[in-house]
Amino acid sequence: MAASGSAVGLGNIWGFPTNAASNGGAAFLFTYLVMAFALAYPALMAELIIGRHAKANSIKALQSISRGPRTRVLAVFVGSLGILTVSFILSFYAIVSGWMMAYFLDPLARLAGMTEAAGWLTADSELRNGIFVVLFMALTIHIIRAGVKNGIERWASRLMPMLILILLLLIVYVLTLPGAMDGLRAYLVPDFSQVANPRLLVDAMGQAFFSLSLGVGTMLIYGSYISKGENLPVTGSLVALLDIGIAVIAGMLILPAMYVALAGGVQIFNPDGSLVAGPALIVSVLPEMFSAMGAVGVFVSLAFFLLMTIASLTSSISMLEVPVAFAAEYRNMRRGRAALLIGAVVTLVSLVIVLNFDPLFDLVVNYATEVSQPLLGFFFCIFVAWIWRRDAVLREIVQGSPEAESGMFWKVWPVYVKFVCPAAILLVYLG
Ligand code: TRP
Repeated sequence: MAASGSAVGLGNIWGFPTNAASNGGAAFLFTYLVMAFALAYPALMAELIIGRHAKANSIKALQSISRGPRTRVLAVFVGSLGILTVSFILSFYAIVSGWMMAYFLDPLARLAGMTEAAGWLTADSELRNGIFVVLFMALTIHIIRAGVKNGIERWASRLMPMLILILLLLIVYVLTLPGAMDGLRAYLVPDFSQVANPRLLVDAMGQAFFSLSLGVGTMLIYGSYISKGENLPVTGSLVALLDIGIAVIAGMLILPAMYVALAGGVQIFNPDGSLVAGPALIVSVLPEMFSAMGAVGVFVSLAFFLLMTIASLTSSISMLEVPVAFAAEYRNMRRGRAALLIGAVVTLVSLVIVLNFDPLFDLVVNYATEVSQPLLGFFFCIFVAWIWRRDAVLREIVQGSPEAESGMFWKVWPVYVKFVCPAAILLVYLG
């Protein structure tokens, strides 16, 4: 539940549907499914297996499977770059999550008759963004301080069922509105002329890696908390299936909602004819649709932004856990102290981005998710397939899954992480 909570986030409910909308609908869906199952799932398994084997933070875990001084240096480099990258990812993720919280409070303020406060909550200002970044980070830090069992696992198992329920209810409701079917068509009828577009491949791979929280040690740390009796290939498949499933289902909410907004007179296309996809989609198109719905809209908007806030929170805790686990295990810092200290530093970085939004936001997002993350994913595959001893890998997998040696997984996966994944990542990366 915790690993699914990490995987399911803004990347699924916002990133995937809007990527699909701007990349030929089902053509993107199709490419994404191939990327997710063929590339991201094997990479997810690599992280889970290394983590459970080492039962330690990412740097120590990679070192423990290294052979010789050179690979130990590489281990420190990959582990540290992961910790740095995930901290930057958290710093922009917290800004967007802060917006979600502000938009969640907006209908409450309106219900209470506080129109002016509602206006402030939904108007883009540095003050609002700053305050909500701090609030969101405080929540994240609070859960991480409580520990793995009482914090991460407890909150993930409370919030995830809620998230799925709200998502399904919203879909059922939106699909009954006029215009929804056009949106479904735009999502599910492929524009195959797009499949050859190299941009689509890069976007689909980036989306798959981001969505499964790969490359930075998040899944490695969560893997280190999985007991030896657990069947890893099965656990990993469940996480991947739930993540991919929720992304695909979220598309059935967001795209129909956009066309409902269109039917209600809201502008959903950019001047160049493409669909609105960036922040404008969530903070202007959808709210306009909610307010056009009248009284019901207040509740629908409440439910939608609650969903977004929950999805963000189960993901942000998994990000903060990476540096905190490192500080707690390696530097022997007390967990609560580490969470507070590292959380404060990340919040500061977020505030710097808030105050310099235009030059910094896209830069940090692109560097972290398009440059650093695939590169790290590549190195994780190298570690598990080329550096770690094959018999040791198998020994780790068969714990909790004794029949694994003769099963499909052990026939296909090693070849995948050894050749297919690194080559594909490099190709997409360089291409
Ligand atoms: N996977 C999450 C989402 O889809 C975000 C996330 C959580 C993440 N942990 C991560 C992304 C680590 C990259 C790296 O929103």
